[in-house]
Amino acid sequence: MRRIIWLIAIVVVVLLVGSLVDRPNFDLTPANPAAGFDAQLHPPQAVSDALHKSCYNCHSTQGEIPWYAHVWPASVLVQNDIRQGRTYMDLSNWSNLSPEMSRIRLIDSCRMMKEAKMPPAIYRPLHPGAAQSAQEADAFCAWVNTQAANPAIAALR
Ligand code: HEC
Repeated sequence: MRRIIWLIAIVVVVLLVGSLVDRPNFDLTPANPAAGFDAQLHPPQAVSDALHKSCYNCHSTQGEIPWYAHVWPASVLVQNDIRQGRTYMDLSNWSNLSPEMSRIRLIDSCRMMKEAKMPPAIYRPLHPGAAQSAQEADAFCAWVNTQAANPAIAALR
């Protein structure tokens, strides 16, 4: 019994020290709403909702950070996901994209949803409800297919 108590105490101390040394900075700087995906492309509500539900946590500066993201070593994994996710596609800064890149990101996103590659498998058990159903993915892709003609995309710099 003593051993177990010692073991638990050691684990708690390691987690505490780790969390104090590695203070995550999620950089949730107040986004400029005018630069974001919704303001730039004016998607239908269902498309906007799908992305907010499944993608914003990693692909924007408007995500919700879970409590365990502040506990080392989970904090390292969450920070990596967010850093990489934003590098590939930042929904809060859509105005940075050229029309071509904007279309490519949409087509990639459609593919990722259809193939159930995003949100990543490791993320889904902790976020039940984050995955896109086949119908939701189809609806998103149907909208993406209309986007070649979206004047808002052509107007991106
Ligand atoms: C848990 C965080 C997380 C969530 C949630 C998430 N992504 Fe990602 N996404 C990443 C990371 C990390 C990468 C880069 C590494 C990789 O491809 O696995 C990425 C890469 C991508 C890429 C580029 C892939 C490529 O190879 O070209 C696209 C497109 C993408 N995500 C779309 C989405 C969409 C759409 C959603 C919502 C349905 C979503 N992601 C949800 C973390 C996430």
